[in-house]
Amino acid sequence: MTDVAAKDSLTVRDNRTGEEYDIAITDNTIAAKDLGQIRLTDDDPGLATYDPGFVNTASCRSAVTFIDGDKGILEYRGYPIEQLAEKSNFLEVAYLLIHGSLPTKEQYDTWVHEITYHTFVHENVKGFMHGFRYDAHPMGMLMASVGALSTFYPDARNISDADNRHMQIVRMIAKMPTLGAWSFRHAQGKPFVYPDNDLGYTANFLSMLFKMSEQKFEADERLVKALDVLFILHADHEQNCSTNAVRSVGSSQVDPYSAVAAGVGALYGPLHGGANEAVLRMLKRIGSKDNIPAFIEGVKDGNERLMGFGHRVYKNFDPRATIIKKACDDVFEVTGVNPLLEIAKELEKIALEDEYFVKRKLYPNVDFYSGLIYEAFQFPPEMFTVLFAIGRTPGWLAQWSELVQDKDQKIARPKQIYTGDRELTFTAASERWA
Ligand code: CMC
Repeated sequence: MTDVAAKDSLTVRDNRTGEEYDIAITDNTIAAKDLGQIRLTDDDPGLATYDPGFVNTASCRSAVTFIDGDKGILEYRGYPIEQLAEKSNFLEVAYLLIHGSLPTKEQYDTWVHEITYHTFVHENVKGFMHGFRYDAHPMGMLMASVGALSTFYPDARNISDADNRHMQIVRMIAKMPTLGAWSFRHAQGKPFVYPDNDLGYTANFLSMLFKMSEQKFEADERLVKALDVLFILHADHEQNCSTNAVRSVGSSQVDPYSAVAAGVGALYGPLHGGANEAVLRMLKRIGSKDNIPAFIEGVKDGNERLMGFGHRVYKNFDPRATIIKKACDDVFEVTGVNPLLEIAKELEKIALEDEYFVKRKLYPNVDFYSGLIYEAFQFPPEMFTVLFAIGRTPGWLAQWSELVQDKDQKIARPKQIYTGDRELTFTAASERWA
């Protein structure tokens, strides 16, 4: 029996051997390695946990984002998301996530200057992006071009140097809108638009997306604000699938561009960032309010999922969904109402009253309404996840920076429960096929 103070510990009895073990409880967790002492024989590798999807396993200590899923609370560095969405802007939130505290006026001005100064990419990146097929998915282009940045900045490998890390963080936040906008322009067969550094971060992004022959493209302020709020809402979400991918790949001590490219890849999937694209396709497929009951029955029969509903963490409401609903109104005031909004609202109403969804605590998540807003901006569905990726970049980088400075972290390398054959005898193909 190990000697641990009785109060903050867990006593476990192994009924196979009758042995009892005291395991320390810290921060409401036990260290998985402490279970390793529970073994049948000296050469037994020891007890482990089985947790596909990390449903109940903490992989790190983090001071970036706090979520209370039951209460619907989301805070970046301690500040509630509602206050940040209302009173801050994306670049200030990015500073907060990366540095851990709000900037002084001087720090903010320097930060904005640095980010603005680095919006341009090497001309060869442009050539590289032109090489994609005419119908390439913009997320695939973004993932590849973020990864390609690692070849343009080989110094990024020096991850133990704080100034160097800062340089790469600035570059990546600055260049994501350029890469995202160019992925969009490529699919449209339109020339790439260079950054306009007289504009703010989000206004410049819209200019690179939509500018044609005019001297200057200045989007409606209300649209700029709405998109900026959407970026803030997506900026971090603690240990979600893509952040876990960034941390997992980053734990090999690779450069941050390669780690973030892995995050973009994870975000691409329909259960994560690809959900808003899937929501839009779903709403279009449903087509009219009359078809909703049959669609809901199909979901309940397990034929498909109600995309934009449910969350691993939020079990009462997703605070981001509430803010997005408000942003919907602001955007539709400029663009006119998206006819799919009526179907979405009716779908939400029916689902929230249905026993199946109530029992499983399934509520609209951030992606249920974001796709409608993006469509009002005239983004094709393939672009939605790109927008998510631009917003999530400061979060990925804040988490990556925390990871590389965390002395507890090791290369990510989970255990497995082996279920295959053992000790078979190999016969050469020439004999097997004779
Ligand atoms: N539609 C129908 N049933 C669902 C849904 C859904 N959207 N989500 C979960 N369920 C059911 C699921 O079938 C299961 O039922 P049962 O207990 O009978 O087997 C139960 O609810 C629990 O679901 P789960 O799959 O074990 O939950 P999870 O925590 O592993 O998955 C999720 C979370 C977000 C992947 C899932 O809810 C989902 O697939 N939602 C649709 C995709 C989506 O909107 N994703 C965006 C998430 S928010 C953006 C982000 O942060 O990435």
